[in-house]
Amino acid sequence: MFEALEPAPRDPIFGLTEAFKRDPSPDKINLGMGVYQDEHGQTPVLRTVKLAEARLLEEETSKEYLDIAGSPAYAAAVQELVFGPGHEIITSGHAVTAHTPGGTGGLRVGAEFLKKVNPTARVWVSDPTWPNHPNVFGAAGFSVEIYPYFDAAANTLAFDEMMAALRAIPERDIVLLHGCCHNPTGIDPTPEQWAAIAEVLTERNLLPFVDLAYQGLGDGLREDAIGVLTLCRRVPEILIVSSFAKNFGLYNERTGALTLIAQSKETAQIAFGHLKQVIRANYSNPPAHGAAIVTIILNDPKLRAEWEGEVREMRKRINRTRQLFVDTLASLGAKRDFSFLKRQRGLFSFSGLTKEQVEALREKHSIYIVGSGRINVSGINEANVERLCRAIAEVLATTP
Ligand code: LMR
Repeated sequence: MFEALEPAPRDPIFGLTEAFKRDPSPDKINLGMGVYQDEHGQTPVLRTVKLAEARLLEEETSKEYLDIAGSPAYAAAVQELVFGPGHEIITSGHAVTAHTPGGTGGLRVGAEFLKKVNPTARVWVSDPTWPNHPNVFGAAGFSVEIYPYFDAAANTLAFDEMMAALRAIPERDIVLLHGCCHNPTGIDPTPEQWAAIAEVLTERNLLPFVDLAYQGLGDGLREDAIGVLTLCRRVPEILIVSSFAKNFGLYNERTGALTLIAQSKETAQIAFGHLKQVIRANYSNPPAHGAAIVTIILNDPKLRAEWEGEVREMRKRINRTRQLFVDTLASLGAKRDFSFLKRQRGLFSFSGLTKEQVEALREKHSIYIVGSGRINVSGINEANVERLCRAIAEVLATTP
């Protein structure tokens, strides 16, 4: 059975991390995978996570299965974080939330659910998008199409082209949107643009599927939910995936959630039953640990305030580092103006480096960047910024 297999292509992001780990260079720099690094290049466990884990160790009395959709306390905490306390989406019962293994698990559960309820739909993703989006929706049996998003010449959102494309999408199709900190470009719609997007989705009867993987790392925890909240005001049915990999640093705990919004409490409950069926057939029920940590932190006022401080610190460091990167490139006389990187938000900057330049950086300088030119800004620090910027300036001058 296996003899006829051809080698599978390397994953564009995880494959890069494998290559980085194999590289013996003592000066190697990892700007690939979207994992927050502090100024020492480390990805430490958050202090609040350690405190919550200590409490869990003390108080946990059983490892019994969770419900198929996970714990209701976690679902409530997730909804409160996304919509804000007391939001009418919560009080009306129009939203249901299932705990999923990471954001990816939520995307996949949502995708399989949608394939069941709307089998002929197509899924539209931004050009560019996270490479795993087409993977996940393709694996659920969808045909995946793209809509314009990035204006490479101006380094901005190609808003008019995006709107024109959305207006032409057939009714009842699914549109994937990044809730904040667009991956890979770091460019998000403004609140006014979100309102216009919400309007066209409603007019065209399109279903938004929002990937909210970086809440808190852009402009703030509430600010980063503006897109989702704007959609909620207009669009009657929405799917939202949350990931707590980045804002809680719970990468390997696979802690995510899928929230479904319906037009009534009754419909939401019926849809929830179908989500549970999808989950049961995939992994039966979710792993508990990461969600227990998130629930403890969000429900304890002291821990929550401290966690919000930790998120603020990550966000501030990312934005300080953008400035440092742009200033250092300019001071070294890089052939291009990179000041647009300061306007981008979240972990990523879309550098505009070509595939050849990215390859040259890896081969000649042991600097690892995703093939699209996406840079994980948090991988830059005081100790490596100069070497990095010199290498970029050299590659820009020598490689097309
Ligand atoms: C990334 O985009 O680098 C992260 O979301 C990690 C991943 O799973 O690809």
